[in-house]
Amino acid sequence: MHVLVSGGAGFIGSHVVERLLEHGRRVRVIDDLSSGRREHVPDGAELVEASITDPSACRAAVDGVDAVVHLAAIASVTRSVEAPSATHEVNLAATIRLAEAATTAGVARFVYASSAAVYGLIERDAHGEHDPVAPVTPYAIDKYTGETYLRFFAAEHGLDARALRFFNVYGPRQLPSSPYAGVIARFATGLLQGEPLTVYGDGEQTRDFIYVGDVATIVTRHAEEPPTSAALRVMNVCNGSRTSLHDLIATLAPATGAATGAAPEIRHEPARSGDIRHSRGDDAELTAWFPDRPRTALDEGLRRVVDWMQAG
Ligand code: NAD
Ligand code: UD1
Repeated sequence: MHVLVSGGAGFIGSHVVERLLEHGRRVRVIDDLSSGRREHVPDGAELVEASITDPSACRAAVDGVDAVVHLAAIASVTRSVEAPSATHEVNLAATIRLAEAATTAGVARFVYASSAAVYGLIERDAHGEHDPVAPVTPYAIDKYTGETYLRFFAAEHGLDARALRFFNVYGPRQLPSSPYAGVIARFATGLLQGEPLTVYGDGEQTRDFIYVGDVATIVTRHAEEPPTSAALRVMNVCNGSRTSLHDLIATLAPATGAATGAAPEIRHEPARSGDIRHSRGDDAELTAWFPDRPRTALDEGLRRVVDWMQAG
């Protein structure tokens, strides 16, 4: 089996590539290295350094593959709020381009990284796949419209498409350097360097964190499953758990060795524009489909992040 992974030099993508290679799959990566790193592409994968905004690069990338795992995107919600049209070019227009190239080339399976962000500001205990969505940021609007396009490609061209709504993914190789980096990467770096942590809002907002190795296993299973129906399948990728930023800091601080009794210094800044207060997924569909999926506990996953950072 030959799989194309767009964004395979990125945080989640590099773990997916690793898992596919472990399973003996042939892997091609298309990545423009805008936020990904060449050195994060595992040995054994073919790297095509190109942008998915280039139609000819998309056509060449899908040539001869059995499945596409489409992860390339500008993954920052904040960045999309600041630059809607620039992020749209990558997050939606290029998604349509890649799906079009895949169906034209006769690729059977298309696994798409959607996001919990599609549920938007709706307050409910846990978001289920059949619940109404309310995307409020350009990032979320593009992700949801991307799903809708895949529904079209499935109905019109028989594509077996999977839209995976990732909740907050964390783990090694999530880069802390950008101001848009994920909260765990930023807090772990801050604690290790003895710097104050910036909390946007009151710190009582909650997220459903899921370890990247578990996500890679789930994504790989979707890519490998024999093609089934020509209909879009939507699935949350989450743990069904709720952790506030304050609780996160309390778990992370001991893992970094920063808890010597003194509480880490926290600086509060206003909540980010478009920020979602509570985000938790219903994982019933995922569990029914993959009952014995790996579930790395948060404290164990945080320890691996810290180990990775300390290893340099
Ligand atoms: P990431 O930034 O580490 O990975 C994205 C990859 O896409 C990078 O390697 C980047 O270089 C590449 N890329 C960006 N624009 C490109 C372009 N025009 N052409 C080719 N490659 C391009 O982000 P990530 O956290 O690994 O996210 C992967 C996917 O999962 C994204 O689609 C993101 O929206 C989605 N997602 C992530 C999370 C999360 O918690 N990290 C949650 C929900 C959804
Ligand atoms: C994240 C993903 C996004 C995905 C969404 C799905 C990243 C960078 N973004 O967005 O791609 O679609 O989950 O749920 O992984 N915060 C701080 N201080 C910081 C950094 C963040 O207080 O230094 C706060 C944020 O304001 C937010 C929370 O922590 O309230 C989580 O932020 P972040 O890790 O950026 O993720 P999301 O915005 O949830």
